[in-house]
Amino acid sequence: MTLSASDIRRRFLEFFQDKAAHEIVPSSPSVPHDDPTLLFTNAGMNPFVPYFLGVEKAPYSPPRAADTQKCIRAGGKHNDLEDVGYDTYHHTFFEMLGNWSFGNYFKKEAIAWAWELVVERWGLPAHRLYASVYAPKEGDPGNFDQEAYDIWAALFISKGCDPAVQIVHGNVKDNFWMMGETGPCGPCSELHVDLTPEGNPVTGRNLVNNDSDLCIEIWNLVFIQYNAEADGTFRELPAKHVDTGMGFERACSIIQNTNGFTDFSKKPSNYATDVFQPIFRKLEALSGKTYVNIYPELGADRSLFTEEMKTAIAFRVIADHLRTLSFSIADGIMPGNNGRNYVLRRILRRAVRYGRQLGFSGEKPFFGALVATLVAEMGGVFPELKNRQDVVRQTLEQEETSFNQTLDRGLKEFESMVSALLSNHAEYASVLNKSPKADSTLNDELLRISRQFSGVNAFLLYDTYGFPIDLTELLCAERGLEVDMPGFNELMEQQQERSRAAQKSNIVRALDISTEAVTEFLGFENDSVEATILEIHPQEDALFVITDKTVFYAEMGGQAGDTGVMDTDDNQIEITGTQQIGKARAHIIPQSQIAVGDKVTLKLDAARRRPIEAHHTATHLLHWALHEIVSADAAQQGSSVDENRLRFDFNS
Ligand code: SER
Repeated sequence: MTLSASDIRRRFLEFFQDKAAHEIVPSSPSVPHDDPTLLFTNAGMNPFVPYFLGVEKAPYSPPRAADTQKCIRAGGKHNDLEDVGYDTYHHTFFEMLGNWSFGNYFKKEAIAWAWELVVERWGLPAHRLYASVYAPKEGDPGNFDQEAYDIWAALFISKGCDPAVQIVHGNVKDNFWMMGETGPCGPCSELHVDLTPEGNPVTGRNLVNNDSDLCIEIWNLVFIQYNAEADGTFRELPAKHVDTGMGFERACSIIQNTNGFTDFSKKPSNYATDVFQPIFRKLEALSGKTYVNIYPELGADRSLFTEEMKTAIAFRVIADHLRTLSFSIADGIMPGNNGRNYVLRRILRRAVRYGRQLGFSGEKPFFGALVATLVAEMGGVFPELKNRQDVVRQTLEQEETSFNQTLDRGLKEFESMVSALLSNHAEYASVLNKSPKADSTLNDELLRISRQFSGVNAFLLYDTYGFPIDLTELLCAERGLEVDMPGFNELMEQQQERSRAAQKSNIVRALDISTEAVTEFLGFENDSVEATILEIHPQEDALFVITDKTVFYAEMGGQAGDTGVMDTDDNQIEITGTQQIGKARAHIIPQSQIAVGDKVTLKLDAARRRPIEAHHTATHLLHWALHEIVSADAAQQGSSVDENRLRFDFNS
């Protein structure tokens, strides 16, 4: 009988609980708390960083734990997005099974238990297992990991295997684990499994760390002993720790696909397990298409894929992205325009576009309808998913609907950009063919550049149709084209610069002015007041007029300033905004004929002020309600209040 995914998860945890008194702890959220260096929780060890650093004591007795941690690798140092759907074993969301020692046991126990679980209990033939050990090059941190080598060697010999074949040396890239540029780190030993039908250790060994889906890493044992400092040095930690991470979906794949390590005739895939099958069945029911478990060759030309291959990839990408999005939203991160929120929006838009391959569209949306299936499968282990099911579904539905409004038009625009590009390129190629450059490398380079999808077009798709750049890159890759990324990045930077400048302009102008003047505020009782002009500060395109009295509320704390008019003896001047400068209030007006000492009447636009007041009040009510309904820790991060709407940012 083959083990189900939930059996495998449970057996891993129970092994460490029963064998060596590890406390089983729940997964932390998929977004790290208090760690600005990480976009998402990308490894099981993230939540335990304070214990490794010694700034907090692990609350377990003995100080050991085991868990399954929700991980997302879709941005930052560890990012697997590009591989998803094309191979059998990369995901943006995955579970990492781990056992942890916080200053307690070290290499001997960690390696012996890993061996016992995988070889003795689960039955992986020892000759199909490769263990890698750290072998630094000159200038790399630390020394050759002789201790780990010796422990592995004794275990392999006990099964009649040759350590010189089964143990692989790895450099700093593969065998010195770091969670990011800084943080706890150390040498590691990875367990790679030979999945070739013949299982020949000598040839299988060459596949280790070679991007082969016939020899994959399933478990990484990290021996944490340093902290990577911001200045690039490695500080020895006060105690030594163990951090192990087993790819749960990979473990399910090799156990289930080989029928408990007895049949290696077909290539295992994480997708051919009960982790993904229910989602595929639902997608089949919704789309009327059938999932076929086929994969392209590594690096194959995407423009030559068959429809069947494209459909298989779309199934996998959608299932993967559904998991990433659902777990993140359940943990309180919404798709948005910045940082990790934008990573989610990008992933969602990618998924919606892959949905086109399965026949989904604005008239036939699909994403929200998959949530119930995922919750049925995983809501037991991760109750937060079940509790937030409605929010997850609604968010996916809204985001899909909103992108559907521009996706098809954008795709059409993309197609016409590509045909223009290809015809220009053909013309250019024929010119070059007739009179080639003397230097043939230059010829090739010119041809390559003439086939580039321009940064301007990529920016247009981004700005007008909401195409994240990786979506455009993907579309281009499918047509055998590449995007001029430096060109795109330059336009993005210019746009960001413009919006930063626009945001700053008023505030900077107000900050540039200094005044001792004091303005009396009478705006709670009145909509207009007679006032005397005390100071006039000419700016590039406006006058900042300070008066002795005002009824105008100034822009402050995210609330829009009042607008209205200033009546002089013979003129009515529009006031476009109000700013506070020290104790004075400045009314912003266009260049006009006024002078210090003039008497004016200030009348605010009361019809605009009332909804601003209402939104201001509603902000307080909302803040109160969030404390009542969401959580007492719902903390205001910022807000924006104007006549049309309010926005309230909070963390919880
Ligand atoms: N930190 C290691 C990894 O993520 C082992 O948990 O691979």
